[in-house]
Amino acid sequence: MSKDNFLGPLNHVGIAVPDIDAAIAMYRDVFGVTDITEPKDLPPQGVSYAFVNLPSGQIELITPYGDMSPISKFLKNNPKGGQHHICFEVDDIHAASLLMAERGMRVLNEPRIGAHGTPVVFLHPGDSGGVLIELMETPKDGGH
Ligand code: CO
Repeated sequence: MSKDNFLGPLNHVGIAVPDIDAAIAMYRDVFGVTDITEPKDLPPQGVSYAFVNLPSGQIELITPYGDMSPISKFLKNNPKGGQHHICFEVDDIHAASLLMAERGMRVLNEPRIGAHGTPVVFLHPGDSGGVLIELMETPKDGGH
């Protein structure tokens, strides 16, 4: 992996919402988006999610699943929901993760399977200008 320009496309913007059905209804009925996936549960990450598919990329709606959800605290501080993370694609999640650690970023987890079915890591927002950054290995089939 090249150590420069290793960030691939911006894959999605993660938005935490208190009510995923209400959020889906808003994107559908107010913004007229027709391509929105059904909500799915991702128990290992403690979230349920749905993708709002736009020509330029995706919005990933996430809401807590279970008692130990990592986004419960975020929603406590932001009861109406809000922008939670941004996600960039990388070719090799393990190499990217090591490089980030080498460069002093706090990598918050070992690579684990994310909502797109490929491994992801999160970087501590305190090291990245207050923005929670998700790195996601590009799906091999090119599908998003
Ligand atoms: Co995400």
